Amino acid sequence: MSDPFAEFRALLARAEATDRAVLPEPTAMTLATVGADGAPSARIVLLKGLDDRGFVFFTNYVSRKGGEIAQHADVALVFHWQPLERQVRVEGRAEMVSDAESDAYFATRARDSQIGAWASLQSEPLADDSLLDERVREMERRFAGREMPRPPHWGGYRVIPSRIEFWSGRAHRLHERRVFERAGNGWAMHRVFP
Ligand SMILES: Cc1cc2nc3c(=O)[nH]c(=O)nc-3n(C[C@H](O)[C@H](O)[C@H](O)COP(=O)(O)O)c2cc1C
Repeated sequence: MSDPFAEFRALLARAEATDRAVLPEPTAMTLATVGADGAPSARIVLLKGLDDRGFVFFTNYVSRKGGEIAQHADVALVFHWQPLERQVRVEGRAEMVSDAESDAYFATRARDSQIGAWASLQSEPLADDSLLDERVREMERRFAGREMPRPPHWGGYRVIPSRIEFWSGRAHRLHERRVFERAGNGWAMHRVFP
């Protein structure tokens, strides 16, 4: 396949069709960002959208990752579907999605998750668990009986890839690695040693 997006979609569909007991979080991906000091940090987020532009996830814009992306938009994603013996590595730039796109996704979330997005000061020090409970109760009161708007500090990023690598496990560690890099309006593919 010469279109890495088509290949990724087919692979994700296989991962999503795999028994959840074997592959519990098919959309989980590691997101690596770069701090102001040049040091990397990584965490898992869930892939919530994919189109011809890139890979979308949602988070708190003033979290550690949000602060790092604001300073340095280059990021990396890694998917690992162990039962399929497949890994996909994505490198590119993260851009905030439009407000309309974040609003639309926020509206699909369960109310408890919406409350959580308002209540959590993601990545801030939390001296005592009761503070989080208090904030949840406060938000429940604040939005009681009405639709919850998206918090201004919460939304999506789209990772626009410049490089996508597909790794397939093979016997004797002779794994296959195919690397796609942007070339004009399309992609050029080359192989690399495992
Ligand atoms: C399976 C799994 C899925 C997660 N999905 C998300 C997500 O979609 N968005 C998010 O902000 N955090 C998600 N998290 C939490 C992050 O890994 C991380 O703890 C949080 O975003 C704070 O990261 P930061 O302090 O580096 O900003 C997920 C964690 C796990 C284990």
